[in-house]
Amino acid sequence: MTDWRLECGDCGEGVPVEGATLCPSCGKPLLARYDLDALDGEHLRRAWATRRGGMWRYRELMPLHDGESPVTLGEGSTPLLEVSVGEDLAGLRLLVKDEGQNPTGSFKDRGLSGAVTRASLEGVRQFVIPTAGNAGAALAAYAAAAGASAQLFMPTDTPEGVARRCEHYGANIDRVDGLIDECGRLAAEFGDETGAFNVSTLKEPYRIEGKKTMMLEIVEELDWKAPDAIVYPTGGGTGLIGSWKTLQELGALGLVEGSTRLYSVQGTGCAPIVRAFESQQRYAAKWEDADTEAFGLRVPGALGDFLILDALRESGGGAIAVDDHAMTDAALELGRAGIGAAIEGGATLAAARELYARGELRDGETVVLFNTAHLLTY
Ligand SMILES: Cc1ncc(COP(=O)(O)O)c(C=O)c1O
Repeated sequence: MTDWRLECGDCGEGVPVEGATLCPSCGKPLLARYDLDALDGEHLRRAWATRRGGMWRYRELMPLHDGESPVTLGEGSTPLLEVSVGEDLAGLRLLVKDEGQNPTGSFKDRGLSGAVTRASLEGVRQFVIPTAGNAGAALAAYAAAAGASAQLFMPTDTPEGVARRCEHYGANIDRVDGLIDECGRLAAEFGDETGAFNVSTLKEPYRIEGKKTMMLEIVEELDWKAPDAIVYPTGGGTGLIGSWKTLQELGALGLVEGSTRLYSVQGTGCAPIVRAFESQQRYAAKWEDADTEAFGLRVPGALGDFLILDALRESGGGAIAVDDHAMTDAALELGRAGIGAAIEGGATLAAARELYARGELRDGETVVLFNTAHLLTY
């Protein structure tokens, strides 16, 4: 039977599973810890191979008790595509994890499937989220699938088409004259006033559990070998933290050979993680006047900053900023390789180019780029 406990990612305090949000002592994010000693890695590897697609086939490492069913729309099992883009990068084996092929067009589906599943099983019928667009669409769809309601707070400058996409799934949207942090404040207020469950990034522990399945799929597809490096477009950092968690869990189960360096890419107009990495800080100061066309990366302050920075450092990776032009050009380059990449996906290719030029990515290495959303989500 799958069982897990929750502990604070910062102070380590244990927290009861039922109704958990943030650490009651220090207010930091909680992480799910499974009893890995009680699991047999070889047995899991064989069991997972016999199950149908989708991220819930890794259920022994997911927040689901025996007999419980997830709220699912078929998320996960996205392709890992080998791309050749430009002679200058010919020395690398570049793979793109194409998360644009999820039900609502982005990797947010995994996290929201995780969060809505657990909360619904605990009786939640009303959700709230601050969003740059993709998380809102995902929450709207998964809340709808669970028969629950969704309230979204979204910056006014988010493109109209993005808002329409969320409305399509029946969500209610409030436009906010401010950035995602202001939306976050209003979402928290709304939650306090109405009792709606707040599934804001890292304010509950299960979006990470959904997002970590990206890395599970990557390692499984590479025949249980870790890629040499991943490049991840980082806003709140859920997927990066989840990827690191997967590598640790698979390591403890004896299911992964080798190690992976994790790299975060952000926009030059909003790069709090890059700045904190370079100045050797454990927490990232808020970025003032955040400005980038990559809305998913326009996150001035991340609640899980220390978890992101720890993962980058412990893995021997790093953090790099690229400008909007480089991201857009690189997204077009991926387009010419047949991949419908959003600008955030483009950012990973632009970053890989720079990291290769700096000698941080080396000839012969396998490098995974995360295309976190489909071009059409914009
Ligand atoms: C397309 C896209 N890429 C990347 C991100 C950042 O993701 P994370 O919060 O996991 O760092 C977002 C978040 O909104 C996004 O929509």
